Amino acid sequence: MSSPASLRDTIAAFAARLRAGQVVAFPTETVYGLGADATNPDAVLAIYDTKGRPRFNPLIVHCADRAMAERYGVFEPLADELARRFWPGPLTLVVPLRPDAGLSDLVTAGLATVGLRVPSHPVARALIEAADRPLAAPSANPSGRLSPTTAAQVVAAFAGAVPVLDGGPCEAGVESTILTVADGTVTQLRAGAIPREEIEAVIGHPVAVASHDAAIAAPGMLASHYAPRARLTLNVPYPGLNEAYLAFGVSPKNATGPLRNLSEKGDLREAARNLFSMLDQLDREASGIAVAPIPETGLGEAINDRLRRAAAPRP
Ligand code: TXA
Ligand code: MG
Repeated sequence: MSSPASLRDTIAAFAARLRAGQVVAFPTETVYGLGADATNPDAVLAIYDTKGRPRFNPLIVHCADRAMAERYGVFEPLADELARRFWPGPLTLVVPLRPDAGLSDLVTAGLATVGLRVPSHPVARALIEAADRPLAAPSANPSGRLSPTTAAQVVAAFAGAVPVLDGGPCEAGVESTILTVADGTVTQLRAGAIPREEIEAVIGHPVAVASHDAAIAAPGMLASHYAPRARLTLNVPYPGLNEAYLAFGVSPKNATGPLRNLSEKGDLREAARNLFSMLDQLDREASGIAVAPIPETGLGEAINDRLRRAAAPRP
């Protein structure tokens, strides 16, 4: 680990790169992000090119604090309450874009809304503050592949072509929960690191669930996302002979193939944290992976969402 002084110097150097319009990878509490100055069209374009991402899929704008987020989005009372309760933290709020926001149109893909998030990771916040710019940042993986939860995965994914600010392994391991707030209604666009039950407890009523990708893109376009190279089979109670297996809870005693366990204790937080890195490890060892059943409650909603996409037919 680097000393506090050298970490500060490293953050300052990465902030200078961002101000100069470069793309850099940085840690957040969910997954690593591929960041650039959201007010600089060339820098934002470079994110899409680096990821190979379709341009109609908008980016989340990462802010240092609520005051910075207010410059880009309009917060109605319900959005205000959610921001107060969950920021800094793994919540993205899709709210109306301020007319004077000054963000590149590429960030919002021309929509009248913007996705805003104030991450809680201290390195992410220090970087945004030092750059003094809102950072557009998708997950730091080539489009359609597994999201990275360590700096080494980002380095490997882009063959060293992107500078990576190393902040250690990500705490949550799955991306932020995305909510849209409009006319007093909250809709979940993507299950994520904050379980829906926690959001419902704050607003006091059930949250609607939208088919997020259907709203942004042609139906089915992004169904296959987070895809490992290996074929995935879900809800498999026991591994077959020599079959690679991703377990949850007590490990099967009869496993003869590569084995990883998301959580021996059956803890969903631990499972979320391990999900992408264990899929990545098994992907290197096998051409097919069987996955244990995972409960649909709490963080299980986000874990199962990522697994279903990873198992979906490839375009
Ligand atoms: O945890 C996370 O959210 C990570 C870290 C790096 O912050 N970021 C992330 O970004 O997952 P990305 O680009 O992989 O996913 C962002 C999602 C996309 O599915 C995009 O369609 C949606 O957010 N999104 C962004 N702006 C939106 C908007 N204005 N309306 C609807 N959806 C939006
Ligand atoms: Mg992503």
